[in-house]
Amino acid sequence: MIFDEIYEKLSETIPPEEFKKHLSKADLITIFGLDKYVKPKSCVVELGTGSGTSAIMMALSWVASNIIIYSIDNGNTDGAKKLIKNLGLNSSIKLIQGNTREVDFNNPIDVLHVDGDSRYAAVIQDLIKWCPLVKSGGLILFHNYNSTNLGIVKAVDEWLSENAGSHISVKSTYKVVIKE
Ligand SMILES: C[S@@+](CC[C@H](N)C(=O)[O-])C[C@H]1O[C@@H](n2cnc3c(N)ncnc32)[C@H](O)[C@@H]1O
Repeated sequence: MIFDEIYEKLSETIPPEEFKKHLSKADLITIFGLDKYVKPKSCVVELGTGSGTSAIMMALSWVASNIIIYSIDNGNTDGAKKLIKNLGLNSSIKLIQGNTREVDFNNPIDVLHVDGDSRYAAVIQDLIKWCPLVKSGGLILFHNYNSTNLGIVKAVDEWLSENAGSHISVKSTYKVVIKE
């Protein structure tokens, strides 16, 4: 599917005013454009399911790669659950209810989507727990890396200063890194 088809499908399923609260069109384009970096059968972990928009976008954009997304949230994800079911994505998106700092998950990760608690100390804890599980050559997508989320920027910059990776240049609120 091309981006416009996915965007239309998303807009028919999720009211745009709802998903725009979470992801801008530029963010969605970024996810779509990363398909060439996503290896077949990738294990994707998302911190922060929320409305389900980003998980659904990853599933639709990277469909050819046959990925499984484990998306974690400690809040109410009934809306996301319903959308995922309606779109027939139950086999590719698995929702995990729990605190990202407490969920027991030890499998190697190919793609990590960081979009949970945005407070500095919480982001630091998430990065300490989850980034070591990302394989060398795996992708880390830091969402909301911008001037309105300085806690995220500070935590991510600290992590980047201590961990090697190459950056993929994108035009959105994402910071995207290939872990070394
Ligand atoms: C920015 S929203 C995620 C947006 C989502 N990716 C989307 O597409 O709608 C952040 C989410 O992180 C969740 N969250 C915050 N702190 C958390 C924690 N410690 N553990 C798990 N989820 C958390 C919130 O409940 C919220 O749904």
